Amino acid sequence: MRHKPIKNKLFVQNRQQLTELMAPKSLAVLNANDVLPTNADGSLPMHPNADLFYLSGIEQEESILLLFPDAADNKHREILFLRQPNQHMQIWEGYKHTKENARKISGVKNIQWLSEFPVMFRSLICEAESAYLNSNEYKRAKVEVESRDARFIRQCRKDFPLHTYRRLAPLLHQLRVVKTDLEIELLNEAIDITAKGFRRTLSFVKPGVSEYEVEAEWAREFIRRRGKFAYTPIVAAGENNCVLHYLQNDQVCKKGQLLLMDVGASYANYNADMTRTIPVSGKFSRRQKQVYNAVLRVLRASIDGATVGKLHRDWTKESQAHMNEELLKIGLLKPSQVKKQDPDNPACRKYFMHGLGHPLGLDVHDVGDANAPFAPGTVLTVEPGIYLPAEGFGVRLEDDIVVTKDGPINLMAKIPIEADEIESIMGQ
Ligand code: GLY
Ligand code: MN
Ligand code: MN
Repeated sequence: MRHKPIKNKLFVQNRQQLTELMAPKSLAVLNANDVLPTNADGSLPMHPNADLFYLSGIEQEESILLLFPDAADNKHREILFLRQPNQHMQIWEGYKHTKENARKISGVKNIQWLSEFPVMFRSLICEAESAYLNSNEYKRAKVEVESRDARFIRQCRKDFPLHTYRRLAPLLHQLRVVKTDLEIELLNEAIDITAKGFRRTLSFVKPGVSEYEVEAEWAREFIRRRGKFAYTPIVAAGENNCVLHYLQNDQVCKKGQLLLMDVGASYANYNADMTRTIPVSGKFSRRQKQVYNAVLRVLRASIDGATVGKLHRDWTKESQAHMNEELLKIGLLKPSQVKKQDPDNPACRKYFMHGLGHPLGLDVHDVGDANAPFAPGTVLTVEPGIYLPAEGFGVRLEDDIVVTKDGPINLMAKIPIEADEIESIMGQ
């Protein structure tokens, strides 16, 4: 665990909130993510299961959390099952949680080894009337690989065909979209690490450096501060500003180009998601600055527009209307194009073709009901852009905000974004 210890109150509260939503006499089971294979005997680094972490703080492979709030025996209300450390494991893999440590991390009192799970589960599901099981219900997810949870569902349906199975995902989406103060603290740590990475690149970028060298500067700052990349970083110079999912990062940055960096740190599984677009030579051209400031105005207005009770789609519509105005001002749209636009496909989409933002948290594109109005505690990215491949550049700016009853708070307010400020720091 690279991050500092987290107060287990966070996970205790999260479990309490979930159990309040569960049906009477139901239990819930959550599995860790698999360690995914690569080639030969290789594997990818373990990516902790966000839901299991949210409810327990546990990141170790093969772990299982069982919640049964109405269990007859108090000891069975929360049980965490873990791999039992042994000498072979210790030699090859090193540290694994002891029962005592897992108790401290999660606040779950009853910790068992995995070998106890089959007998215990049989006994408890026979006592329960229904079982909540977990699946990836993110709307745009492409699920091609069967997860541990999916295999578990299959096994349950085979072994206990007469039970009622319920979906855990909608309950967790409802809870996870609203962040508590403890979660905002962790997000702020990820944002702070991201800010430090950005400052480092501002004094590093100049004509002749490669995109991968810039990526390395971010990595250095993230890793030494107990973080890592929240997602594969986009470090894109010149025309590649306009490639929305550019991941190669293999080109040389040239004088006169802009460098778009969509990079965020992850700390304790909480993710920052930031985009800044800077001039490679330290000075924006007039045209670049004109487009940059148009994006910045849309960013600022969209941040202000993220208020409690608003629907995501209305928020987006307002921002698209503003973007239309900006594009008219800088000569990229004609009034007639706006006048005859399809309301479902506004004219600005020619230059700003992606979403305005998304929930952010334990996942970069975090879970949450897209049709629910913004609630206090909702953390969102705000990321307008204007992409002009014909002019050889594009601009995207992305901040992370939290919606509160007193208005939105920009969690990235201290990270340089004004064109003049960027130029002045780069010029030092
Ligand atoms: N970096 C991913 C995104 O902005 O959505
Ligand atoms: Mn981003
Ligand atoms: Mn984003």
